[in-house]
Amino acid sequence: IVYGTVLHFLRDPGTQPDPQAWQLFDPGALVVGADGHVEWVGAEQDVPPELGNGATPIDHRGNLVVPGFVDAHIHASQVDVIASYGEQLLQWLQKYVFPAEKAFSSAEHSRMISGLFLDTLLAAGTTTATVHPTVHKTSVDAFFQEAQARGMRMLAGKVLMDREPYAPPDLKDASVQQAEADTRELIDRWHQKDRLTYSITPRFAPSSTEQLLQMVGRLYHERPDLWLQTHAAENKEEVDTVHQLFGGRSYIDVYDRYQMLGNRSVYAHSIYIDDQDRTRLSQTGSSIAFCPTSNLFLGSGLFDLDAARGAGVRVGLGTDIGAGTSYSLLATLNEAYKVLALQQQKLPAMRGFYLATLGGAEALYVSDRIGNFQVGKEADFTVLDWAATPVLKRRMDVAKDFQERLFALMTLGDERAVRATYVLGQRKYDRPAGVQLPS
Ligand code: GUN
Ligand code: FE
Repeated sequence: IVYGTVLHFLRDPGTQPDPQAWQLFDPGALVVGADGHVEWVGAEQDVPPELGNGATPIDHRGNLVVPGFVDAHIHASQVDVIASYGEQLLQWLQKYVFPAEKAFSSAEHSRMISGLFLDTLLAAGTTTATVHPTVHKTSVDAFFQEAQARGMRMLAGKVLMDREPYAPPDLKDASVQQAEADTRELIDRWHQKDRLTYSITPRFAPSSTEQLLQMVGRLYHERPDLWLQTHAAENKEEVDTVHQLFGGRSYIDVYDRYQMLGNRSVYAHSIYIDDQDRTRLSQTGSSIAFCPTSNLFLGSGLFDLDAARGAGVRVGLGTDIGAGTSYSLLATLNEAYKVLALQQQKLPAMRGFYLATLGGAEALYVSDRIGNFQVGKEADFTVLDWAATPVLKRRMDVAKDFQERLFALMTLGDERAVRATYVLGQRKYDRPAGVQLPS
């Protein structure tokens, strides 16, 4: 039984936050069963005695307990790429990303980086992510092994890429047949094992031949139990390239042609889309990963969240490491707020925390398992320290209500605010209590 200030969401609170969309228990309690699933959530004084008696108390009183953060787009292969200077997408891939990804032909490198990557996620309060490893089978095996060892709910799949020059000659699938065989082998080995999910992962249209995308669409329809993830409409030069290579009404329309839209599919970025694309994404149940730190760092553009949500598209938040500049979804929300401010849009803290938790789970089609503290869900949660830094502590002291405090946490918080991270009720990350201000 975990004691603390408990906040979780039942749906999107929107831009004029709807108080029916969340539950806040202050002081609250979360009861987790021996199997790591939620048994009860509510106010501390209401814990049913039959659940409370005999349970091990875990005292996080004074801290904020939220569902584990969900990262809707990230690259496990780009740990060493973060903060690479001076290029936009297509040049940045050639100069920094592809050289780094070549190292994942080594099983030992794949294992070492995957472990480091997952521990870094836990330290940021992230418990679930949909992840791009590399084109190498070893990178996928290592990633799933390390995720399984930590008990984390993770989605990933072998990166598929077979068209030069957007896939370099020494970092591409030998043939579409081999790419499909490798993918099927990895699906058999990992899909639905423990908390692991296989996501078919064509890198993006420019690095794909028509035959590769055909194979992807065919497999995705043959196997309605699989997920799909890729990049879309991130950068203007990329969008022009896709038009030259594939024609089509739009970038999304090209993916539509290959039957890739649908439930359990995630399109990272999707900045350069129009209302017809949004309607198609919404109708088909396809999701977008909004990656603000990446979109700013690579100079890609400003994502229009209100238009996407207004059209009914599922949207999660992605850090997009290594184009993104922080593993923290709090830091990502801080940048999301600014991206939306530049477009005269608002991001209230309640909507921000929804996007980082249940919204991400809905975008990844895992909200039947995680995303909030509904009874029966898997108990992944993150404990946040309101006063992790002197700046935060000072700001909290003058805040007049909960939503003002939550907004300050979203704007000023990062890994330093993560006090502990739990996976299936087990503590997987622990950090010493926050700094003391001089009195
Ligand atoms: N588009 C294709 N590959 C990538 C990648 O690795 N990162 C980002 N941000 N965009 C991509
Ligand atoms: Fe990416």
